[in-house]
Amino acid sequence: MKSFLRILVALMLSQAAAQALAADGKPEVVDGGNPDTLSPHVSTMLPLCASCHGADGISAVGLYPNLAGQKVEYLVKQLQAFKSRERNDPVMSSMAEPLSPEAIQELAQYFSSRK
Ligand code: HEC
Repeated sequence: MKSFLRILVALMLSQAAAQALAADGKPEVVDGGNPDTLSPHVSTMLPLCASCHGADGISAVGLYPNLAGQKVEYLVKQLQAFKSRERNDPVMSSMAEPLSPEAIQELAQYFSSRK
């Protein structure tokens, strides 16, 4: 009985260790939701973007598109197009103007990752 308990405890400990590993092993991505893990680009711009598109990319206004779940490549392309005014919208072109390529990529990843 004693050895059974010992095995049980050993099993529980190894499982706890495995879980800790899994939590640590999580890829460090541009994580949405948790403000502590947002990239600087995203956390700087998000309040502005969110005022129209919603913090989770779901907008409350009919003319402001939802961005949540949209493809990263598409969002990047649109932001680049606004910036170059190939897609010219008075509001969004001025929003995209100051964005660096990194900021565009990370904002696109952020909004794409929202559900
Ligand atoms: C003042 C409101 C406003 C703010 C702030 C704003 N947007 Fe927009 N956004 C719009 C509008 C309006 C459109 C649609 C433009 C059009 O009709 O072409 C748009 C379109 C977009 C699109 C294209 C979506 C699609 O489906 O084609 C992207 C991507 C986008 N915004 C990202 C952002 C990001 C990132 C920020 C922050 C840097 C931001 N927006 C800030 C109003 C806003």
